[in-house]
Amino acid sequence: MQNRLQKRLGFQSPIFAFSHCRNVVAEVTKAGGFGVLGASTFSPEQLEVELAWIDEQVGDLPYGVDVIIPVKYDRDAEAAFGKTDLNDLIPDTHKAFMRDFLEAEGVPELPPEEKTRVHNEIASGRGGMTPDGARRLLEVVARHPKVQVVVSALGAPPEDVVRELRKRGIVIGAMCGKPKHASRQRAAGVDFVVAQGTEAGGHTGAISTLVLVPDVIDSVENEIPVIAAGGFARGSQIAAALAMGAEGVWCGTVWLGTQESELTPFEKQAYFAAEAEDAVRRRCRTGKTVRMLKSRLSEIWEAPGAPEYLDPPLQGVLFNEVTARVIRAERSDLYSFPAGQVVGSMKQETSVRQVMLDMQTELADALERLQTLGQG
Ligand SMILES: Cc1cc2nc3c(=O)[nH]c(=O)nc-3n(C[C@H](O)[C@H](O)[C@H](O)COP(=O)(O)O)c2cc1C
Repeated sequence: MQNRLQKRLGFQSPIFAFSHCRNVVAEVTKAGGFGVLGASTFSPEQLEVELAWIDEQVGDLPYGVDVIIPVKYDRDAEAAFGKTDLNDLIPDTHKAFMRDFLEAEGVPELPPEEKTRVHNEIASGRGGMTPDGARRLLEVVARHPKVQVVVSALGAPPEDVVRELRKRGIVIGAMCGKPKHASRQRAAGVDFVVAQGTEAGGHTGAISTLVLVPDVIDSVENEIPVIAAGGFARGSQIAAALAMGAEGVWCGTVWLGTQESELTPFEKQAYFAAEAEDAVRRRCRTGKTVRMLKSRLSEIWEAPGAPEYLDPPLQGVLFNEVTARVIRAERSDLYSFPAGQVVGSMKQETSVRQVMLDMQTELADALERLQTLGQG
């Protein structure tokens, strides 16, 4: 049976895949799910390249794009974007804190050429993490009609964004972590909400998926579809979400361990070695609470004497350059990338197709089991 979003968008499996990797987005879409590209780390130029590539892979199938539009952000940094190097806006105390830590840990500097490349990529990409940054990315999206869904994270999309997307017939979604966010987002004109529980990787609130989803459905009075996110890597978990009234699930962490993921072998290994409890909520990555792999780098920011977290996009600019050094040095004890609690069940590399197949098979089994229960 097809739900409201499947009917409107014409896809088969109620499985949404969030990923920053174009290969994952294209493969999930081709396998009958709905791929959504996380765009906030790309510059507009790079996003153009990514979307053109996905367009070629998916044939006539629709897919989505996700942008981050935080309610609280650094307005000076937003105004300075394109005129000033965002790195220059990071206070010296913060730079020194990271420089001294990495030096004490013996993590080498990046070679000069790589440093410049990473620096430019991050400064231009992280510029996307403000409302104007999202608007710049959405101008690119407008040139790609196969993008039929746009999702905003960290706040309801602003009025002008909703108006513009609606004019183009795009289905608008929003991530939410509290029931009251969902009613605000519905009032702002979104077509569906993604109720994301605390167990999710990435920016996340404090309420668990099992508690959040039914409350969000109530708060939007079932007028718009609710998709459940956070903790979905198996078909039985998807069956639970559907049983609660969700019209699909939205997964992020499970794709990180696939061959289509662009993470390096070192990074994938860090995920395969992690247990569920290693995915902790910390603010060091973007300034907002993100569930990520715990490491000595994430913990140093929580220790007494650490500087205050910066608002988006500056904390992200600082932390991502540091992360590039950690990855190059292959220091798993310092590696902190977003991860949900399902990371504990990811132990070896797989493929997007296999994940989709396993989830669909398990979902069918779980639904059959439930039906037997219902017959007493
Ligand atoms: C590596 C990673 C990066 C993420 N970045 C974003 C993002 O930029 N925008 C967003 O809306 N959600 C982001 N998320 C959250 C996902 O959209 C999704 O809600 C979450 O991964 C679902 O929970 P799961 O991790 O248990 O599958 C990210 C998640 C991960 C794992």
